Amino acid sequence: MSNDEFPAWSREVAGRMEAVLDRLLPASRIAPARLHDAMRYAALGGGKRVRPMLVFGAGLVSGADPARLEVAAAAVELVHAYSLVHDDLPCMDDDVLRRGKPTCHVEFDEATALLAGDALQSLAFQLLAEHRLADDPQVQLRMVQLFAAASGSRGMAGGQAIDLAAVGRTLTLPELENMHIHKTGALIRASVLLGAHCGRPLGEAGLASLDRYAKCVGLAFQVVDDILDEEGDAATLGKTAGKDRDAGKPTYTSLLGVPQARRFAGELLGEAHEALAGFGAPAARLRELADFIVSRDR
Ligand code: IPE
Ligand code: IPE
Ligand code: MG
Ligand code: MG
Ligand code: MG
Repeated sequence: MSNDEFPAWSREVAGRMEAVLDRLLPASRIAPARLHDAMRYAALGGGKRVRPMLVFGAGLVSGADPARLEVAAAAVELVHAYSLVHDDLPCMDDDVLRRGKPTCHVEFDEATALLAGDALQSLAFQLLAEHRLADDPQVQLRMVQLFAAASGSRGMAGGQAIDLAAVGRTLTLPELENMHIHKTGALIRASVLLGAHCGRPLGEAGLASLDRYAKCVGLAFQVVDDILDEEGDAATLGKTAGKDRDAGKPTYTSLLGVPQARRFAGELLGEAHEALAGFGAPAARLRELADFIVSRDR
């Protein structure tokens, strides 16, 4: 496969994700309809679907069945959607625009948004329990465990807690890195590992290399998010720009400035590529995805 195939591949994964989520989310006509509407509003019809692409990209490396990958990808995207709904609440970032639409609590109401986030998360774990994702049940159990850890207080939710506690403070570079690795890096890492586990065993060294790739890409993702918050515009981003500075959030751009933050993202990209060196052609999509994550404008 050549580089030119990445745009078509990424569109295909995004299209597939939309269809899968549409099928797996409860229909709006099922009671409680307002809650189901809010869940569908938050999860469907938008987003870059980067995490599903990471699941599918890693699945290419382990030769995984796409039917398994779509369940794993849906689970990650549901937790991601829940994290965005809660991140936008007035008690957190208090944002009104997400994916080019009013945020969930603006479109519905705060209580419904809170419950939609809760229910999206529960649905994600229900999917992992209901579908066969690995030949070995022990491996599937390990997948549920790693995903729970990545989502919880030692992962994404913990990172969000660090983020809230950091408002108005100046963090050191290691503290900032720790926050980003948790709030954003954890789910990105889980995406890659879940995709890999859906296929044949890669062995300890293979998994460690993929994990190194995922750690670099996960941190780079939030560094670029910080840069885009500083430099982007709402029309392109589909979310309010300049929020971090206004809210007094420590970010890579507030600490290092944009040029140095960009340089750092470039270094992480280089390390991500190095980590994939042993995988050859099957890792082509993961390489292109890392490039996309660092060069994106939204
Ligand atoms: C935004 O994530 C929140 C972060 C973790 C930085 P994305 O940039 O992946 O958001 P969508 O899914 O494309 O809307
Ligand atoms: C959000 O980080 C991370 C999670 C939702 C876990 P941000 O607060 O920077 O994300 P955006 O910029 O609102 O998308
Ligand atoms: Mg936030
Ligand atoms: Mg936010
Ligand atoms: Mg941001």
